[in-house]
Amino acid sequence: FGASEGKPMKQRLLVVANRLPVSACRRGEDSWSLEISAGGLVSALLGVKDVDAKWIGWAGVNVPDVIGQKALIKALAEKRCIPVFLDEQIVHQYYNGYCNNILWPLFHYLGLPQEDRLATTHNFQSQFDAYKKANQMFADVVNQHYEEGDIVWCHDYHLMFLPKCLKDYNSKMKVGWFLHTPFPSSEIHRTLPSRLELLRSVLAADLVGFHTYDYARHFVSACTRILELEGMPEGVEDQGKLTRVAAFPIGIDSDRFQRALELPRVKDLIIELTQRFAGRKVMLGVDRLDMIKGIPQKILAFEKFLEENPVWCDKVILLQIAVPTRTDVPEYQKLTSQVHEIVGRINGRFGTLTAVPIHHLDRSLDFLELCALYAVTDVALVTSLRDGMNLVSYEFVACQGVKKGVLILSEFAGAAQSLGAGALLVNPWNITEVADSIAKALNMPADEREKRHRHNYAHVTTHTAQDWAETFVSELNDTVVEAQIRTRQ
Ligand code: G6P
Repeated sequence: FGASEGKPMKQRLLVVANRLPVSACRRGEDSWSLEISAGGLVSALLGVKDVDAKWIGWAGVNVPDVIGQKALIKALAEKRCIPVFLDEQIVHQYYNGYCNNILWPLFHYLGLPQEDRLATTHNFQSQFDAYKKANQMFADVVNQHYEEGDIVWCHDYHLMFLPKCLKDYNSKMKVGWFLHTPFPSSEIHRTLPSRLELLRSVLAADLVGFHTYDYARHFVSACTRILELEGMPEGVEDQGKLTRVAAFPIGIDSDRFQRALELPRVKDLIIELTQRFAGRKVMLGVDRLDMIKGIPQKILAFEKFLEENPVWCDKVILLQIAVPTRTDVPEYQKLTSQVHEIVGRINGRFGTLTAVPIHHLDRSLDFLELCALYAVTDVALVTSLRDGMNLVSYEFVACQGVKKGVLILSEFAGAAQSLGAGALLVNPWNITEVADSIAKALNMPADEREKRHRHNYAHVTTHTAQDWAETFVSELNDTVVEAQIRTRQ
C-alpha cells in the first residue's frame, strides 16, 4: 500500500469518526451519488506528508438492504472511505440519544437531562448500551481493514468506547483518540452514570488529545479523582501503562480561504454584497443551530445594543447564518422556534419599511459565498456558551486581509486561548457586556483594528490544520515507540 518503486513506504492511517466526510444520496437500487464535504478534518489530513489515510465512519443514511450496502461500499472505496452501517434504531439511541442528548450537552456544561430532556432519556441505560454497541460496530469495521503497522486515529465524543474495543481486538494496534469538544471539569464528568467505563476506555488509547491545555488537565483530573489513578506531567498511568495526554490545538487550511478570495466568482460576490449593504455596517454570526452556540443570547445582546444606541438602528445589520443540525433531537427543534420568535420580535420592534436589523437564514452557505461574506463583514460575533475550539473565528480572520474587522469572541470557546489578544473577549451570558462590546467594535479606530487583526492573522496562518494533524500523527507514532521501549526495559 502506498509503496511504489524507489519511494518510501507511506504510513497507513485509519481515521475513524462518527460521520464520513461525504454525503451519500441514493439514486437507484444499486447506485449512489456522493458529495465530498471538504471540512477541516479532510483538508488537515490531506496536508499530512507521507501518510496514506482511509476514513471509516457512518455515511449518515439508513441502508437496510444488501444490494444498496454493496453499491455504497464500492462507491465510497473510490473516495478512500469505508462505511459503518447503523440501523435506524441504533442511530436513534446512540446518535440522537446518548451522543447528542447526553454527552454533547454535558461536555458543554449544560448538564444531564432534566425536564423535557429527561422525558426523552428515560432509558439512560439502553442508550448507553446502544452507544457501546455502535462503538463495537465501528471497531469491527476497523478490525476488518487493519493491517499490521497501521495507526488508528479515533475522533470525538461519539467514539469514547472505541479505543477499548480496538485494544481488545489487538493490544498492539496503535490507537489515538482526539476530542473535538471541551472536556469538562471532573465535577461535571462525575455526574455521568457511565463515567468510569468511558474514562477507562479512553485510557486504553496510546495518545489522547484535546484542543486546549485546560481540557487535557480536566481529563487528567477526572482520571485521578474518579478512577484514583496517578496523573503525571505526560499523562495518566494505570498499572504501569502510560497513556499520553496532551493539547493539540486545531487550525484551518488558511491558504484555501486565500485562494478562494482570488476567484472571480468570490470577487463578484464581494462587490454585490458591498453594494447591497452600502451605508450599513455588517455584523456576522455563522453557527450550527445548536444550544451551545449561544444564538439567542447573541441576538438579545444585539437587541440591547440597538435599544441603547438608537442612532445605529438603520446603520447596522446582523446577518445570522444558522445551519440546521441534529433536527431529530427535540432540544434542537425547540431552539429553532425560540430563535425564530426572538428574531421576529426584534425585527418587528426595530425594523422600518425599508430595512430590518436582523437577517436570519436557516441554512448553510456554499464555501465561496461564505468566503465573500466573511470578507465584507465589519464585526464577527462568536458567542458560544462553550465550544471546543470554534473555527468560524479562524475563518473570519483568514478572510479579513482588506477590511481588518473586529472579532467578538466568547471566552468559553477554545479559540479564546489563541485569538484572545486580538479579539474582544466576552462572557456570552452577560448580555450587557456583549452589547457594550458591539458598540466598542463598531466604533473601533482603524489603527486598533489593524493591530488586533495582525495578531490574529499571524496565528491563523501559522497554526494550520495540517500542522495539527501532522503533530498528532507523529506523536502517536512516537508514543508507540515509547511503549515498545518500556516493554523492552
Ligand atoms: C461538532 C462535533 C463533530 C460533528 C459536528 C457536526 O463539531 O465535534 O464531531 O461532526 O459537530 O455535527 P453532526 O451531529 O451533524 O455530525
